[in-house]
Amino acid sequence: MGRHDELIALALAMRDKAYAPYSRFSVGAALLSGDGRIFTGCNVENASYGAAICAERAAVCAAVAAGCRSFTHLAVASSGEDYCLPCGICRQVLYEFSPGLTVLCARPDGDYKVYALKDLLPEAFQ
Ligand code: THU
Repeated sequence: MGRHDELIALALAMRDKAYAPYSRFSVGAALLSGDGRIFTGCNVENASYGAAICAERAAVCAAVAAGCRSFTHLAVASSGEDYCLPCGICRQVLYEFSPGLTVLCARPDGDYKVYALKDLLPEAFQ
């Protein structure tokens, strides 16, 4: 299995860890670091809706807390039927650490689209 497929499989699996009782929309993410480590995340919601954290940012926080700040690929998957793309806040957070990131956006059947983060967040604030 290639690294793309490995990341997609992890993102799909991480949806099961999501805490999303309010939206019922589960998201999983897997982040590949420049040195080959993988960090995962899921969305974590709250009764105070605005306190929710997205799967992608949860993965970034796990990586940074482990001392890793440089990434090559992110895979993201949701419980929705279409391809899952990162929200605007997550695009900005990902850009902070890796403007050259490749983003793999999966569908529940495992098919995915590939984007450059720079195309998802043109003219980024830095
Ligand atoms: N969500 C993510 O985890 N990542 C995204 O890129 C989009 C949205 C979560 C936040 C919230 O828990 C749920 O999906 C519905 O918006």
